[in-house]
Amino acid sequence: MKGRILVTGGTGYIGSHTVVELQNAGYEVVIIDNLSNSNADVVDNIEKVSGIRPAFEKLDCLDFNGLDASLSQHPEIDAIIHFAAHKAVGESVAKPLMYYRNNLVSLINLLELMPKYGIRGMVFSSSCTVYGQPDTLPVTENAPVKRAESPYGNTKQINEEIVRDTVISGAPIDAILLRYFNPIGAHPSALLGELPNGIPQNLIPYLTQTAMGIREVLSVFGDDYNTPDGSCIRDFINVVDLAKAHVIAIDRILEKKQKEQVEVFNIGTGRGLSVLELIDAFEKATGVKLNYKIVGRRAGDIEQVWADPTLANRELGWKAIETIEDTLRSAWAWQLKLRERGIQ
Ligand code: WQD
Repeated sequence: MKGRILVTGGTGYIGSHTVVELQNAGYEVVIIDNLSNSNADVVDNIEKVSGIRPAFEKLDCLDFNGLDASLSQHPEIDAIIHFAAHKAVGESVAKPLMYYRNNLVSLINLLELMPKYGIRGMVFSSSCTVYGQPDTLPVTENAPVKRAESPYGNTKQINEEIVRDTVISGAPIDAILLRYFNPIGAHPSALLGELPNGIPQNLIPYLTQTAMGIREVLSVFGDDYNTPDGSCIRDFINVVDLAKAHVIAIDRILEKKQKEQVEVFNIGTGRGLSVLELIDAFEKATGVKLNYKIVGRRAGDIEQVWADPTLANRELGWKAIETIEDTLRSAWAWQLKLRERGIQ
């Protein structure tokens, strides 16, 4: 066994795909998740995909004493990948205090407990939202962190500062901050994918549910932006490509290959695609016509952002390889499987 990794939020969308890639790489995984935006049968599906059942404990990272007790029962954890957080830009504008409490205190609890249990490594799920609306594109890790456009983005900015300040204070922690762009798609087995509880906040699940007839129409939030077709531009990255970046980051920490105690990497494709271009790509890739309409802008949205992934390509030896067409087909295959399983 290469090591034992605690994955918070491990039954979630990115978390579950990362658990499988960790297992494929020879790591033992312990998942803790409060199931606020996922369900426990994801653990069964992880086992079906990887052939290995990860340990799972239903637990909220806000519960300091619960976390303390859990870590005392799972000895020799080498590193933590911290996914557990609320992550919807629009929702964070409506419910800022819920976002600040959940996203900040959960990280603080983990950082406070790590030294007590000799856990040295932290891979933190950060986000391109820390850049706000970048002045120049593609955006590099050295771009100035501008005022976040949403409380969600602000929690990620503050999270990064909390990690840095904790390490600077002398805590025995090595950290890698991965700034994701827009994760989309599903596992090729169609056994893992994005399945938010309730009405999807993110584009792709809402898009595939509309294509499936679960939602009547996809609302495109604005076509009056300063972009070629007026809709927002994002860097849509395949979730399995993203998951693999986490394994490389864990390897880097445990093999002590970091150049600094806190490192930051953009995990994106380097390709910008507008919402309307994505809709067109989905229809072409799947042959499924999509019912959509243009509506007003969504509060908190930034106009356009896509990554310069050069640093991750060079330093981590990681690169996004899945095409947007295959990625969209995987999202559709997942939606079809959900229907087949009677889940949606
Ligand atoms: C994408 C675009 C919307 C829904 C996400 C995650 C965040 C972070 C970054 C990881 C925007 C438009 C959406 C819809 C639409 N990821 N849209 N109709 O806001 O870029 O942020 O990626 O940390 O966690 O939330 O993603 O999918 O919500 O929106 O037109 O029904 O699609 O306006 O331009 P976003 P999103």
